[in-house]
Amino acid sequence: MNERTPRTDPEEALRGDITHGAFSHPLLKEVMRQFGRTAFGRSSACMEFDAFLRRIGARGKTCLEIGTMHGITAILLAQYFRRVVCVSVDRAQDRGLKHEIVRALGITNITFHDVENNAEKAKVISGLDFDFCYSDGDHARDARADFELVRRCGRVLFHEYWPIQPPVWNLVNELPPEEVTRAQFDCFAYWGGKPWSD
Ligand SMILES: C[S@@+](CC[C@H](N)C(=O)[O-])C[C@H]1O[C@@H](n2cnc3c(N)ncnc32)[C@H](O)[C@@H]1O
Repeated sequence: MNERTPRTDPEEALRGDITHGAFSHPLLKEVMRQFGRTAFGRSSACMEFDAFLRRIGARGKTCLEIGTMHGITAILLAQYFRRVVCVSVDRAQDRGLKHEIVRALGITNITFHDVENNAEKAKVISGLDFDFCYSDGDHARDARADFELVRRCGRVLFHEYWPIQPPVWNLVNELPPEEVTRAQFDCFAYWGGKPWSD
């Protein structure tokens, strides 16, 4: 694996090992070591994400992720699914780092689609067969439209399931309660309208 200088201010270099919390995950620790804290900007992986994937029994052939930024949740999802397909509307300057990160980690089961808008996003998703979706795009504007794009897979993990994000909060609360699992500490909710297939 290539050594590189972490992109953090040398004044703020980390001292000591990371032995607990989300960043003690071997992959996230390696990302932190090689790319610094910039890589984690806007990531939901820094909370209960990995533990919640285990709790809901996440597994299968294809995982779709909507909203990817630097690919941090994608690299965790890639440990549970045979492949991960990411579709994200990102600024041009945010599109490169995820490729460097997965290359540095030697992860080869993620495909990234950088799309320009929701019409392109819908086109990619409509041609895709997937078992699970992590919905983490533009929650304020697209929560419901994104759910309509992916609900056919029967298993959707929502980020920002909390009352300060009403589009997600209200949508999840309308789903059959027996099909919804809520995270213990963080704003994740999982709708499992279909049992997992092995
Ligand atoms: C909060 S970040 C999620 C990053 C990643 N899931 C993680 O937690 O590591 C949200 C991502 O969605 C992208 N995005 C914004 N609008 C979007 C849209 N309409 N459809 C899909 N992705 C969108 C953002 O640019 C950003 O990359």
